[in-house]
Amino acid sequence: MKIGIIGAGEIGGTIGTLWSKAGHEVCFSSRNPHKLTDLVAAAGANAQAGTIAEAADFADVILLAVYYWTTDEAIEAAGSLDGKILIDATNPYIRTDVIQRVPYASSGLELAKKLPNTKIVKAYNTLPTAVFANGHHRGEPYALFYCGDDVDAKEVVAQLIIDSGFIGVDTGKLNQVIHQEPDGILYNYIVTVAEAQTLLAPLQQSSMKVG
Ligand SMILES: NC(=O)c1ccc[n+]([C@@H]2O[C@H](COP(=O)([O-])OP(=O)(O)OC[C@H]3O[C@@H](n4cnc5c(N)ncnc54)[C@H](OP(=O)(O)O)[C@@H]3O)[C@@H](O)[C@H]2O)c1
Repeated sequence: MKIGIIGAGEIGGTIGTLWSKAGHEVCFSSRNPHKLTDLVAAAGANAQAGTIAEAADFADVILLAVYYWTTDEAIEAAGSLDGKILIDATNPYIRTDVIQRVPYASSGLELAKKLPNTKIVKAYNTLPTAVFANGHHRGEPYALFYCGDDVDAKEVVAQLIIDSGFIGVDTGKLNQVIHQEPDGILYNYIVTVAEAQTLLAPLQQSSMKVG
């Protein structure tokens, strides 16, 4: 799979590296791609660096991992994302003196409105970078929640989740995304699939799918 990483910082750099090492072709991007030399070297032979527009053009699947307040700038720099799968790892925080949640905002729903012709799947936003980087999930794999409206796109993302060493837990359509975003009942829990099902029980997701 050809994957473009928009926002190759902590989370984007880490997940892109997992995918690259799993055999996917990964183009990390930056407003200053020359700064990505070390990341590309560490991610191995399947990795390269480019501008945001180059990564978007290269990819079938995009991982969006920029700060909420830079999303508009990032997607504008990407150019058309029509028809592509976009995994939204962003969370609706703003930076004032400190970083704090934007009340009631959903970065996933806002992105879907901005990109109506892009297949948005929310994933990789619920856990801190260290959980992906430290390899502990390689024992009994941790659950990773995802949701979205496009069934085929979700299948692709479920496989990418497996390739990164986790097990996807489908929480339904994108209108369920608030449960996965900050303050939601699925946010920031390092859990196995069995524990994930307990967390999901109050939502009574009959459509929930694991794997
Ligand atoms: N860190 C975590 O543990 C974690 C976990 C889950 C989800 N998230 C979410 O993931 C997102 C990124 O967090 P992070 O911690 O990975 O941040 P980060 O390390 O600061 O990386 C952010 C990336 O965004 C890019 N960027 C900054 N301003 C930009 C702009 N105006 N246009 C385009 N790209 C821009 C930067 O790339 P260049 O400066 O190189 O262009 C940078 O690589 C946030 O929404 C966060 O809530 C973070």
